[in-house]
Amino acid sequence: MTIAEIMLGSNKAAGLVRSRKILKKQELIMSRPINFSAGPSMIPVEVLESLSADMVNYKATGLSLVEVSHRGPVYDEVHQEAVSLLRELLGVPEGYSVLFLGGGATLQFSMVPMNLMKGSADYANTGTWAKKAIAEAKKVGQVNVVFDGSSSNFSSLPDPASVKPSPGSSYLHITSNETIGGIQWKSFPDTGSVPLVADMSSDILSRPVDVSRFGLIYAGAQKNLGPSGVTLVIIRDDLLERSSDSLGAYLNYAVHAKANSLYNTPPVFPIWGVKLVLEQIKKRGGAAAVAKENAAQAAEIYNAIESSEGFYRSPVDPACRSDMNVVWRLKEESLEAEFIAQAGKAGLIGLKGHRSVGGCRASIYNAMTMEGVKRLTSFMADFARKNG
Ligand SMILES: Cc1ncc(COP(=O)(O)O)c(C=O)c1O
Repeated sequence: MTIAEIMLGSNKAAGLVRSRKILKKQELIMSRPINFSAGPSMIPVEVLESLSADMVNYKATGLSLVEVSHRGPVYDEVHQEAVSLLRELLGVPEGYSVLFLGGGATLQFSMVPMNLMKGSADYANTGTWAKKAIAEAKKVGQVNVVFDGSSSNFSSLPDPASVKPSPGSSYLHITSNETIGGIQWKSFPDTGSVPLVADMSSDILSRPVDVSRFGLIYAGAQKNLGPSGVTLVIIRDDLLERSSDSLGAYLNYAVHAKANSLYNTPPVFPIWGVKLVLEQIKKRGGAAAVAKENAAQAAEIYNAIESSEGFYRSPVDPACRSDMNVVWRLKEESLEAEFIAQAGKAGLIGLKGHRSVGGCRASIYNAMTMEGVKRLTSFMADFARKNG
């Protein structure tokens, strides 16, 4: 046998191994349920596989990443890479700090007013999550509610041009996507010199945003960015001067910014997961590319609702329907439990609306695929045919 023949044989064998691996991955993806949960939610299979492959012996170091010092070079590379990918993919300008904190977005409901509020602040009351943010802010100072969606049962959002800061307000807070109500700001208020603060927990990096229009953005990772346990905060550096030294160290943004989120032990595992998710989003073409896919997937479900001749209905103003959390009701609300149960049997899970509002909800964050969404819409059509 010549060397050329041996090479050809080994190339063929390598090719065979590669196609078997691809096939196995396809089988794995096909065999998993389609997960429409609101959060924690779908994570790309390749990210889960990468976490699993490297869990015991991270990059041949002999140790897991979750058992080495957070101040050593192995973790440091992951930490810096996660920060720089976030900066790149979100287009975070110079003059902003990117922080990875614990405590979920819920801690940010308190940290934002503790650090930034000097007297009063404005809040748009757009639903469950905005209400929670308002409740915490009220413990710190005066809250001016600049929009109140309660009269429309939080089914709509104001024209951003009509949302203006009050005199003397420290900042204006919005919730860019209400995860439970299924409404999403399509553009943002212009608040002039008053910093705009946004809870982007359920739509961070699902679309391009102009970060320079915000004073502060925060988001729990567990929907679009990776595993739960880490919260992203992007803060304009001049606002760090508002953080008082009298705050507990962990509650102080300036402390975290100065230490590059290494003041104490950071949430190592979820930051590692976030880094892998960001690499995957970069490969997909970044925020603009995922936004296009997200919009197409949302349109597919809204079309299924609209074309059902009233069997399904959306309770949400079409102008602000969320591309992340599609909520709907059945004409016969008594059929909703049956719809959710049968969907579960068909491998479509997490479709139950939040317990506070009922109905159905499909959360279709960045990791969702059009194939997954089409399985849902064909199930919806089938269920309507059988029960309509
Ligand atoms: C818009 C929004 N804000 C805040 C939160 C609370 O986040 P966490 O559980 O990370 O505290 C959630 C959780 O689903 C959310 O959807």
